[in-house]
Amino acid sequence: MSAAKQQMRILTPRQPVEIMVPFTKQRSSYITALFTFGIIFLFMLFQNAVIYTFLKTSVDSTRGGLCACDKCVTDLNDTDWFFMRFNPTVPFLLNRRNGVLRSDVYRWWTGLQTETNKVTYTDVVDTLFSVFPDEEHYSDAGPDRCRTCAVVGNSGNLLRSHYGPIIDLHDFVIRINKGPTEGYEKDVGSKTTHRILYPESAVDVDNSTHLVLLPFKIKDMRWLISAFTTKHITRTYIRVRPTVNANRDKVMIIHPEFIKYVYESWLQKHGRYPSTGFITLIFALHICDQVDVFGFGAKSDGNWHHYFDTSLTHFSRSSHGGDFENKTMNELLLLNKISIHKGW
Ligand code: C5P
Repeated sequence: MSAAKQQMRILTPRQPVEIMVPFTKQRSSYITALFTFGIIFLFMLFQNAVIYTFLKTSVDSTRGGLCACDKCVTDLNDTDWFFMRFNPTVPFLLNRRNGVLRSDVYRWWTGLQTETNKVTYTDVVDTLFSVFPDEEHYSDAGPDRCRTCAVVGNSGNLLRSHYGPIIDLHDFVIRINKGPTEGYEKDVGSKTTHRILYPESAVDVDNSTHLVLLPFKIKDMRWLISAFTTKHITRTYIRVRPTVNANRDKVMIIHPEFIKYVYESWLQKHGRYPSTGFITLIFALHICDQVDVFGFGAKSDGNWHHYFDTSLTHFSRSSHGGDFENKTMNELLLLNKISIHKGW
């Protein structure tokens, strides 16, 4: 047998295999295409469910899951309105690691109130966290936590409300600006775990209370440093207290990006910037599982009155979008995200 014939005999049985290879390849690419189309088809069919699940997972994983209360802020009883506004990834308290501001945040935030001194923001943040604790706060959400919070505004509707004992039952009692407890315990309670303030509204707080600075300008941060160290800053746009009594280890600072987020996401840019009370309320949605609101509400003539003094501000004529803040709060109430105790 010639060498060529011998080679043919060896090759002959292999021929069918060589024909089958392209056929198998073709079949598998058909299957892949069919599978891909199937996935696309199913995605289009259940698009909303997929997006909803993705949203749920991202909310749950950032906050560590739903909570142990009867109802939780992050309950998924509704999807669109709340989750289009609530961003669980936005930084709410400042620290060294999240202290650098995006250029749009820096521009917006430094445009809120005029500053006379030109100082470098990053230097101020550096000094801030050499004086105050540089910590990550409230990343402990999860299925075993039920943190109830009372947000206590300063409305005159608290007088004769007898809300004091109910307010004090909450894990966190967050008060705002100058709102006192002494002499008003029956109506406003006596417990204060957090007090949100800025230089122009500063008061002393006791040793167990977190002083939470709401900074509207760089000078507010410098004032906080000065108040605990040199005490040399006595003026912003008005005279301010050179110092406050507070536990330095419990000081916290609201993140400027959080203020912009409240303004854009929750107020859709109504007013010039949000009121302290409204920022506090959204802050509570981020750090609490259940939020009860007290002491919010103007007089029938539209004036924001206080339970402790006779000063008045007309909410829709001030720099805050008072009407829109009320509208948003009512929506939160309807969705069971907060409860509002309206007082008298
Ligand atoms: O007046 P002040 O800003 O100290 O009050 C704290 C917050 O309480 C306000 O920012 C506002 O949100 C709320 N408030 C209210 N109705 C009032 C007074 C204050 O809703 N009559």
